[in-house]
Amino acid sequence: MEKAGGKRILLIVGGGIAVYKALELVRLLRRNDHTVRVVMTEAAKHFVTPLSFASLAGTAVPETLFSPDEEARMSHIALSRDADLVVVAPATADLLARMAQGLADDLATTLLLATDKPVLVVPAMNVRMWMHPATQRNMETLRADGIAIVGPENGDMACGEYGPGRMSEPPAILAAIETKLAATSHIAHNLTEPNLSGHRVIITSGPTHEPIDPVRYIANRSSGKQGHAIAAAAAAAGAEVMLVSGPVSLPDPAGVTTRHVETAREMLTAVEDCLPASLFIAAAAVADWRPTDSAEEKIKKTGNVPPLLSLVENPDILATIGRPGPGRPRLVVGFAAETQNLLAHAQAKLERKKCDMLVANHVGRGSDVMGGDSNQVTVLTRAGAEPWPPLSKKAVAERLIAACASLLAESAR
Ligand code: C5P
Repeated sequence: MEKAGGKRILLIVGGGIAVYKALELVRLLRRNDHTVRVVMTEAAKHFVTPLSFASLAGTAVPETLFSPDEEARMSHIALSRDADLVVVAPATADLLARMAQGLADDLATTLLLATDKPVLVVPAMNVRMWMHPATQRNMETLRADGIAIVGPENGDMACGEYGPGRMSEPPAILAAIETKLAATSHIAHNLTEPNLSGHRVIITSGPTHEPIDPVRYIANRSSGKQGHAIAAAAAAAGAEVMLVSGPVSLPDPAGVTTRHVETAREMLTAVEDCLPASLFIAAAAVADWRPTDSAEEKIKKTGNVPPLLSLVENPDILATIGRPGPGRPRLVVGFAAETQNLLAHAQAKLERKKCDMLVANHVGRGSDVMGGDSNQVTVLTRAGAEPWPPLSKKAVAERLIAACASLLAESAR
């Protein structure tokens, strides 16, 4: 029987020499009170017998996709859903390629395609196979699908070569699994009533306007709908909410202290005035640059020569507040609106701006995220990326606040 606090892991085992480490992983997972179901590819069975895994997991290893007997006991769909996390270890080049393509020609790949649960892969292969552009392309696809990746490590390989491709060691895989399980329950599945009472939350929202002269400014298409919805959700969760809003045409949310600002520099000052806080969520689309000098008087047309705009960089509010130090809020959340390479840019931003969580969404021509009422985001933490389904901005706000409340409660323990 599954012990209290234990989670259900579906372990898909690919065919590589590193299979022996997967045996040790099963032992470690069970020692941490998790229940493990193992499914092996046909290639994996050339390295280790299903009996070895069944003995360590304490449950039979389902044999094939087309077994009427097993299908009667538990369908492959149920098997893929009846888990908290799916782990693929070792994930061979072939298995990763089949995952990236969405193939479902055996039990392992069918489960991977049918699952609605987070998936974590642990690659293991020869260094040339790992470095091959085809494998790297497949990894990029899997990353974009929200799949978490552990390793591979650099080192001596069973084939005598040296380099990246070696499967991570079982304790490192276990640590990644525990982190992923914790983040998953915080992010996607923690839909219980969040409680932020006793916490001050600072949220930025909307665009900033950077004046060129008294009548003209540089701006962007942000409506403030997402940031304002987050402020409302935080207030509903009992937080003391300080909303620092750029120019928007939305009413101030009820139960929230709203400060209105125009420029990035004013926004930074207002945020700093609101500190200390437990949680900072930077949802504003802050202008990256401002005109070097804002003219005192309206700039007049002079002949046919248009004026040249010279720009300087604005302070980065998120990076300033996220900087490690005594006054830093316990949880710092950023947003990343990108028109291309969403996940790669978002991951880089998470690191560069020292955020604990980053909400990434795709914007661009044809997208109605800026100004619209719905949003499809991928939420990144250090534990990995989690794509959320398309939701209303209100629902994204509620999920985000639930995730933050849960992370804050966890960090206080
Ligand atoms: O670098 P980029 O502007 O894409 O970063 C987006 C994130 O950084 C958002 O959370 C935004 O609110 C924040 N940001 C900021 N100050 C800036 C620029 C961006 O707080 N000057």
